[in-house]
Parts: sequence; structure tokens; C-alpha cells
Amino acid sequence: MTPENSVSTGAVDTAALGLIPAPRTLTAAAAGPYPLGCTTPLNAAPGTEGVARWLRTTLGPATGLPLPEGGPTGAGRGSGSTGRGIVLALDASLAPEGYRLAVEANAVRITGGTAAGVFRGAQTLRQLLGPDAFRRAPLVPGRTWEVPPVVIEDEPRFGWRGMMLDVSRHFLPKDDILRYLDLLAAHKLNVFHFHLTDDQGWRIEIKRYPRLTEVGSWRSRTKYGHRASELWDETPYGGFYTQDDIREIVTYAAERHIRVVPEIDIPGHSQAAISAYPELGNTDVIDTTTLSVWDTWGVNPNVLAPTDNTLRFFEGVLEEVLELFPAATSPFVHMGGDECPKDQWKESPLAQARIAELGVKDEDGLQSWFIRHFDAWLTARGRRLIGWDEILEGGLAEGAAVSSWRGYAGGIAAAEAGHDVVMCPEQQVYLDHRQDGGPDEPMPIGYVRSLEDVYRFEPVPPGLSEEAARHILGTQANVWTEVMQNRARVDYQVFPRLAAFAEVAWSALPAPADRDFAAFDARMTAHYARLDALGVDYRPPAGPYPRQQRPGILGRPLDGVPPVV
Ligand code: ACM
Repeated sequence: MTPENSVSTGAVDTAALGLIPAPRTLTAAAAGPYPLGCTTPLNAAPGTEGVARWLRTTLGPATGLPLPEGGPTGAGRGSGSTGRGIVLALDASLAPEGYRLAVEANAVRITGGTAAGVFRGAQTLRQLLGPDAFRRAPLVPGRTWEVPPVVIEDEPRFGWRGMMLDVSRHFLPKDDILRYLDLLAAHKLNVFHFHLTDDQGWRIEIKRYPRLTEVGSWRSRTKYGHRASELWDETPYGGFYTQDDIREIVTYAAERHIRVVPEIDIPGHSQAAISAYPELGNTDVIDTTTLSVWDTWGVNPNVLAPTDNTLRFFEGVLEEVLELFPAATSPFVHMGGDECPKDQWKESPLAQARIAELGVKDEDGLQSWFIRHFDAWLTARGRRLIGWDEILEGGLAEGAAVSSWRGYAGGIAAAEAGHDVVMCPEQQVYLDHRQDGGPDEPMPIGYVRSLEDVYRFEPVPPGLSEEAARHILGTQANVWTEVMQNRARVDYQVFPRLAAFAEVAWSALPAPADRDFAAFDARMTAHYARLDALGVDYRPPAGPYPRQQRPGILGRPLDGVPPVV
């Protein structure tokens, strides 16, 4: 059944409401609509004060309403479950991120299993108020607002609903990250995977290794388009987040019940770190002092040397990372592990000696040695390691979880072996891939993956045993930014597809072929109006505006179809 079919809609016009992601059940309320005015109170029961603060700082500017505590009946702080107006409360019988939103004669009542559930319900309330609730100031003074007469019961399908953003290839300033956290929250997503390091730039301040950002966050020029393009942007490029920026981002995310997964990518994708600290590279193979932060794209041969010094260096990095990303909101730390060419290790006497000393079979064993080391190191500090599916090669570290990106296969193998998995196959949910096969897509990369294709993505592959399926923590969409030079380009690639992805991750959708894309698309009409109000520079359904096109900039379109699992 589609969510639309599973809903006893009564008089409710689900297309007009356009809730995205679709809730589990949506019924007509006996009372309502409920008007919101200058005197409408907002009452928060203990444990929901943070959600009240978010509502005041979001709906307040949009609506011009003060949403005071207490109210005409005298209901005040702590009386949230009985007050009138907008009432927030906890109900431990609901799922942790589940919520119930009920329009009653005297109240709009949002109860959640935890504050996170209440927050998801508050996002639904914002959608129910219409697109202007997504603005930062009222369009006209004194307009009235009302909550339509509905009762919604809702909870997510997956506990991990994420987006990965690569800020190495192109850097998004802190304000843009905070805005993206708001956009994730508006779509009920709850994981922000922050790809902070790569060959093209190191983006997080590490106090004990200042050259990582002094040197490693800057490059002299940048390839413009796919790596085969002849074009360069000759402007020096870079940037990084200070530790205070990171603290602000992490707290801002936590206030929106979003977990942040920091990624420090090792042992490949490390040229920026090696250019800052040449002793990290394979100095017996190349003169690493000649390396600079990489200015083009692709898989880079300059990988970390498998030395004790390298291990100690990254332990030092991680000590600061763990301090910046607390365990409560960042239980997972991503250690990359992807695309590590083994050529330098094959040539390096030092690497070969290490292979012999460790008694591992080959260079894959060295990769596994790196990951196992940090798996144990993180576990000893109460965290969990997650890595790209290459960490399966040479033997997967005990407690590690896997981001399955090269298709479903890595995730299936890991899940069947009892490891937790986040499904993010590049063939389906890499949002850098083009959205249309036409000639107007800017710098077209990869497969054509339309809004409908993303809507039909299924995170749990068929044939997985029930036991293994329980190891699918959820799913995330990945945004690699080689051809996304700024926020507008990121917006274009991410939206509207993130809306379809959010529904896949949250809603109880049927098997892909049975999904009612037409009904989803009808709800998108309301959602495009929300994205407009938010100032999101999405790809219009009819194709890119001329200003969104990049004629003459080489991409790399692929014609292949994704492998069938
Ligand atoms: C990846 O796309 N290299 C994880």
C-alpha cells in the first residue's frame, strides 16, 4: 500500500496538504481548523522546551506571532499536556522519533516518543501551515494562520536517514552548512555525514597540527568541470571550519535532532594531509615534499604510509575530533577507507616490510590494518567506526559499520556477516549524478537519476535474510562536489531529489514498482512552494533555467544501467 492508500483520508485532501515525507496515517479531525493568532500560546511540557524554542525562532519570524508561554486559560510552564494553543508533550508509548499531531477544539497537540519525535511533529506542523511558514518574515501584516483539521500518527521506517556533503572538493561556508541542517530537518532527516578531508582540501582545524589547515586547506587553482576538461579556475581556493565553527554546527544540528558523522578519510584521499605533513606519505617511493593540495579530480595515488608515525598522527587528529563531536550526538566516526590505490605500497620497501611483519597477505591487509587499528581505538573510547565498503577488503574490523556505496553488494556481504550497514549505492542515491538525459544539465556526471528514480530506490535489497535486514540501519544520499562550485550548484543537484529520498527513508513505502509516484508528484506541488519560500535553487521540473546551465563545461555522463542485485 502507498501511504496515500493506507490513509483513511476522510475529507482530507492529501495532495493539497502535500506533506513530505508522507506520514503513516492522516485522518480528518473532529474539530478544527485551529486558528493561530497573536495570543495563541505555545505550551511545552518538560523535555520539550528545545522544540518550543525552535518553533518560536522559526514560526515566530515567518508568522509574526509571538507564541507566548501560558495563555488565556492560565496554562503555564509545565502544564503542556493540558494547556491550549500549541501544546508539546512526551508520550513514552510512541516510538522515539514517532509523534502524534492532533488538531482539537482548543489545541494543536503534538506528542512524541522523545523530544526528537516532538521535533519531527513540529516540522509537520510547519508544513501544515502552508509555504509562507517557510519564510523569514510575514508577507502581509496581521494575516491569519490556521492548522487544518487533521490527526496524524507517524514514525520513521529507518533510524538512519542521512545526507553526506563533501566540503573538500568545494567548500561551503559555515552559514551554508547551518542552512543545510535546516533543510535536512525540514525533510525529517537525522544524519549529517560531514566529509571533512580529502585530496583537494582539509577542512577542520586541528590545533596540534596547524599546517593541516594553514597548508592543507588551500589549493592554487581548480579544475573546472570533469577531470578531462581543459578548463581551470585559476583563483586560489580554500577554507576551513575553526573548532568553534564545528562546535556551533554540532550544537545547531543537535537542536534539530540531527547526528553529525565526521569523516576523516584514510588511508587514501589524503594528499591534502600529506602536502601539509610530507612524512605522512610514502617517502621511500616519491618525494612527498613536492606535493601540494590536489587541484583536479579522480582517484589519487598518493596515500598514507603504513607507519606507526601515521597511526599516532591520526590518533592525535581523532582526539580533537572526539572532543568536538561528542558521543551523544556523534556515536559514529567515519574513517573513509575508499579508493586507496595500492601502487605505492607495492613499490615501498617500508610497506612491504610492514606486510611481512604483520603477517598479512598483501596490500589489502595493510588497508585492513589501518581500519582495524582505528576501529579498536574508537571502540575503546566509546565510539563506533563506519567506513566505505572497501573496508571489507582484507577483512572487516570487528565492530565496524559499512557505508555501501559501490552498489548493494558490499552492504549485503557486511549485513549477512552481522555488521551494521548504511545503504547509499552510487547507482541510485549519488546526487552528483545528473537528473535528466537532456543536453541542458550542468556538467552532467554519471547516470540519469530522476526524481522518480530516487523515489523508487529501495534501501533494503530483496533476498536479504531477515536477520541481515535488521542490520540495515538506514540510508543516506551522498553529495560529492567536484562540479558543484557553490551553494546554488549544490541546491540544484540536491533538490528536488532529496524530497523523494526523504520519503524513501521515512515513510512506509511499498516495493519500488508499487510506489505511487504520481501521488508523490502531486504533493510536490505544495513542496516546491515550500522550497521557493526557503530560497532553495532546485532543478525546476521543466529543466534548468539558463542561469543554471553550464554550456561547454565538460561532464562525464554514463549510459549504463545500475547492476541488478
Ligand atoms: C566514494 O564515492 N568514493 C565513497
